[in-house]
Amino acid sequence: MKSNATYLFLTIGIFFLGACSNNDSAEYVQLPDLEERMMAGGETTTFISSSNAYGMPASNLSAEDLSLHLTGDLIFEFVFVTPPNQVNQGLGPIFNNSSCISCHPKDGRAAFPVDLAMRSGFFLRGSVPGVSKNGGPMPIPGFGLQLQNQAVFGTQPEVEFQVNYSTITEEFADGTKVVLQKPHYSVINAYRQLPNSVLLSPRIGMPVFGLGLLEAIPEQDILANQDIDDADKDGISGKANYVFDAKTQSTKLGRFGWKANTASLLEQCAAAFVNDIGITNYLFPNKPGLGQSNGDYTHDVGDYNWRVQRDIKDDVLDAVTFYTQTLAVPASRNHTKESVRKGAKTFDQIGCAKCHIAKHKTGYSPIKALSYQTIYPYTDMLLHDMGDDLADNRPDFLADGNEWKTRPLWGIGYQYLVNGHTEFLHDGRAKNLIEAILWHGGEALDAKNRFKALSKQERENLLDFLNSL
Ligand code: HEC
Ligand code: HEC
Repeated sequence: MKSNATYLFLTIGIFFLGACSNNDSAEYVQLPDLEERMMAGGETTTFISSSNAYGMPASNLSAEDLSLHLTGDLIFEFVFVTPPNQVNQGLGPIFNNSSCISCHPKDGRAAFPVDLAMRSGFFLRGSVPGVSKNGGPMPIPGFGLQLQNQAVFGTQPEVEFQVNYSTITEEFADGTKVVLQKPHYSVINAYRQLPNSVLLSPRIGMPVFGLGLLEAIPEQDILANQDIDDADKDGISGKANYVFDAKTQSTKLGRFGWKANTASLLEQCAAAFVNDIGITNYLFPNKPGLGQSNGDYTHDVGDYNWRVQRDIKDDVLDAVTFYTQTLAVPASRNHTKESVRKGAKTFDQIGCAKCHIAKHKTGYSPIKALSYQTIYPYTDMLLHDMGDDLADNRPDFLADGNEWKTRPLWGIGYQYLVNGHTEFLHDGRAKNLIEAILWHGGEALDAKNRFKALSKQERENLLDFLNSL
């Protein structure tokens, strides 16, 4: 009897061992591309895993391209000042901050400002109800589309920013509670009366690596994932933004900005120079506050002869644009860890991957290093209704007041190492990844609810996966 029982025990044991290892290999089989995912930015991928993880040149740049990238790197760090300084002059007269790097620290993400009155990586866009003649938001008379809360000596900033909070409590199936702080923004001390109908949209400076690859995803591939009327009835639509492109003076697919409100990196950088820093350039030759093409500006900025002079040469704008096109994507990590593999599976199973689409292929790019790369950005580049709690209630071209572009998740696990904080979302309101997910609503409500139903272990696996990216 004894020996029979032992045999029986052994047999059952072997059966279970077999079952377990079968399960394990089943997971490997279901995520066959996990190794490929490591090369998140294709051949541009960097394996530097220090606090410089976001700031490396694409690994496959030619010598000539690398040299242009390094020139752009210097300009990205320029601190602009006022005359009579001869070097990097032209700041303001109204602005939000004085360098690109101040809002995109270490090519990463700015923290939510401790004091909204100070220079920071945060600003408010503004408009009044209606649609402008180029299809975009309607500028606020006398203020334009971005509120500059800083000014050079002798000039008054347009406004001061203010925030207060209410709370929302979320509860996981296991009883764990999380209290979210919901920000409510307003402006005070406007240099002249603001209309009562003003619409505000908070935005924070986000990481700038891998963007040339996103610019090179063929338009038809992005449109293929659109499901504007939710024909497949999965509760998730996905809509492309179409925006006015200043260079070609035509309507183009929007790819950049929190609402996909800009079509190209050239325009994103040119607009950043002029609106964020006050630096005029060939695409935007007028100072903010002086009859800029997209705004009705009457802001009196003193007697500088701003109108006739461009603050930077054309090749300065082109070099910094090239820089934002050619920053490497950090490799993802820890694929052999069981928790990461399980988390990756949960990410697919609970519907995160429906918007955060892992894989894309770039098409032809004039920058050779970016052409025909297989990349893992985890975004569909489309707009989604994310619910009322995340809404800014300010339309931006085709994006309505509830819609935001799906954020790429590549490199997200490095943010603490690079930037020293774990704040996320368009205004930095989420204090960590769990809060970022709990803010999801609207089309992402089902995915959020499935996340809340996970066990603690399953949640940790999912976070391990996100942190491996
Ligand atoms: C005052 C802070 C601030 C400054 C200064 C600033 N940025 Fe930004 N940047 C932002 C914010 C906020 C956004 C998001 C804008 C939006 O959603 O409309 C952004 C977006 C971007 C993007 C798009 C990223 C993406 O993933 O869509 C690029 C590229 C960029 N900035 C480059 C620059 C460059 C180049 C400079 C310097 C010329 C610069 N920025 C200066 C705050 C800033
Ligand atoms: C319906 C589409 C959709 C689904 C489903 C979805 N997301 Fe998102 N996700 C977004 C959008 C859009 C944003 C940007 C929202 C914002 O900034 O206000 C975002 C932002 C995030 C961020 C913050 C990124 C950053 O850079 O700030 C994280 C993390 C994230 N999502 C993870 C997840 C996870 C995990 C799931 C599954 C539980 C998920 N998402 C499901 C659309 C989606």
